[in-house]
Amino acid sequence: MKEKTVALAGGSGFIGRTIVRRLAAAPALKLRVLSRNPEKARAQLWESHAEFVAADISDPDSLRTALEGADAVIDSIQFDGYPIENPRRGLTFDRIDLGGVLALIAAAKAARLTQFIYISGAAADETSSHPAFRAKGRAERAIRESELDYTIFRPSLVYGPEDAVVNSFVKLLKYAPVFGVPGTGRQKVQPVLVDDLAECVALALEGRGHNGTYEVGGPDLMTFDDLIRTLMDASGHRRPIVHIPAGLMRGFGALAEKLPSPLLSRDAVTFVTADNACDIAPLVAEFGVKLTPARVGMRYLAKK
Ligand SMILES: NC(=O)c1ccc[n+]([C@@H]2O[C@H](COP(=O)([O-])OP(=O)(O)OC[C@H]3O[C@@H](n4cnc5c(N)ncnc54)[C@H](OP(=O)(O)O)[C@@H]3O)[C@@H](O)[C@H]2O)c1
Repeated sequence: MKEKTVALAGGSGFIGRTIVRRLAAAPALKLRVLSRNPEKARAQLWESHAEFVAADISDPDSLRTALEGADAVIDSIQFDGYPIENPRRGLTFDRIDLGGVLALIAAAKAARLTQFIYISGAAADETSSHPAFRAKGRAERAIRESELDYTIFRPSLVYGPEDAVVNSFVKLLKYAPVFGVPGTGRQKVQPVLVDDLAECVALALEGRGHNGTYEVGGPDLMTFDDLIRTLMDASGHRRPIVHIPAGLMRGFGALAEKLPSPLLSRDAVTFVTADNACDIAPLVAEFGVKLTPARVGMRYLAKK
């Protein structure tokens, strides 16, 4: 079998690292991780035997060099501080999510690479008024119209031992007297184990899901409150849930946006109070994956 070179933009991130580790086990694949800090990425992923190259999504020349000789690219990038935009530092959905995909498509075409795999997000919608969902929707359209072979994955909340979100929730459950849920707590979420997503990416590289867009969630559709209760069960840290009205949080967000490095924004409140439900039937039919139930996938939280 011909050896295939796979470039991973965002390969040093939470989802990217799991994909790299999964692909490292595949024969006939050469892996190339693109990072702004390749030495740091190498230290995290030394066992993968990947190549680590310097590349910044906002530097088209670095992307062109990084993709030379590659056959496929996986885009799993998100900006530092996500989902709180910081326009002063150029950290926005438009610039990094959408602009990054456009730059990668151009570099992919220059390198005559044929396959583009994109980690988009649930609720991606180019007509949305929310910058995150709109940027992902526009990025998806650019990929579909690029004439590259593509597979697009739209995950709901992705969790795993190295994630940022679920781990920070469990830390709060451990140390805070109550758990503050943004909004009503009725917003839908369908947490998916990162290894299940990585498995689908590996299958896509083999041709599964060709020119398709797939929502990716776990088998359990739950409310945000249910998610927190599941985390309490898994971790053993039980706290009362308190709902923080979205309007109040948006008020704090508006004030925080005036700071040089905001820790909250109005759009971030909308982002965390939005529904993230998925139709997983097409994914299961095409990829044949057995999605891990949350109570099984979250067992690692017992040690936290
Ligand atoms: N985590 C979730 O629950 C979830 C759910 C749905 C969708 N997604 C989507 O999945 C993708 C990956 O998410 P994640 O949670 O794995 O993110 P993450 O852990 O924050 O990783 C972000 C990655 O982006 C890279 N990056 C950031 N800015 C860059 C730039 N200017 N140039 C090049 N690389 C840059 C980082 O690489 P270096 O720092 O090494 O340069 C890092 O590898 C994102 O598109 C996200 O929207 C995530």
